[in-house]
Amino acid sequence: MGLMDANSAGYVHGGTVMLLCDEVAGLAAIKHSRLRVVTAGMDRMTFLEPIHVAELVTFTASVNAVWRTSMEVGVRVDAEQPRDGTVRHTNTAYLTMVALDEDGRPTEVPPLLAGSDDEKRREREAQTRRRNRLAERDELQRDRSG
Ligand SMILES: CC(C)(COP(=O)(O)OP(=O)(O)OC[C@H]1O[C@@H](n2cnc3c(N)ncnc32)[C@H](O)[C@@H]1OP(=O)(O)O)[C@@H](O)C(=O)NCCC(=O)NCCS
Repeated sequence: MGLMDANSAGYVHGGTVMLLCDEVAGLAAIKHSRLRVVTAGMDRMTFLEPIHVAELVTFTASVNAVWRTSMEVGVRVDAEQPRDGTVRHTNTAYLTMVALDEDGRPTEVPPLLAGSDDEKRREREAQTRRRNRLAERDELQRDRSG
C-alpha cells in the first residue's frame, strides 16, 4: 500500500480496501462461472485492524455458495509487515455477484461442489447470511406496507 492509498495518519482508506475486495470477488465469480458478473451487494465488510502504508496486502477470495444466478464470494484480507514478516488478518468481506448473459440479463451459474469440511462450513454460513438478508427484506417490506 502506498501513500495515495492512505489518509494523513498513514492508515489505508476503507474505500481502497473495499474496492480491491470487490475486484477480487468479481474475479473469483468469473472464474467459477466463466461469465460476466456484476456486484449485486456487499453484505458485510468488517474492519478488524487498520492497514498501514508500506504493508503488503493479500486478498484471498472464495466462492462460498451458488444459487440460481447469484454467488456469495467471501474475501479475506491479510496485511504483512515486509520488514519482519508479521501477518495480520485485517478484513473480511462477503459480496453477492450475479452472472449475466450476453444481453446483460441474470443467467444460471454452474453448481458449487463443496468438498472439504471448510468448504461445507462456508456454504452453510453463506446460506444463513442469505436467509437473514431475505428475512430482513421481507420484514422491512411488511413494515412499510403497514
Ligand atoms: C444485480 C442485478 C443484475 C439483479 O437484477 P434483477 O433484475 O433484480 O434480477 P433478478 O430479480 O432476476 O435477480 C437475480 C439474482 O440477483 C439476486 N439479487 C438481486 N438483488 C440483490 C441484492 N441487492 N443483494 C443480493 N442479491 C441480489 C437475486 O437474489 C437473484 O439471485 P438468484 O437467481 O441466485 O436467486 C441488477 O440489480 C443490476 O444490474 N444491478 C446493478 C449492478 C451493478 O451495477 N454493480 C456494480 C458494478 S459491477
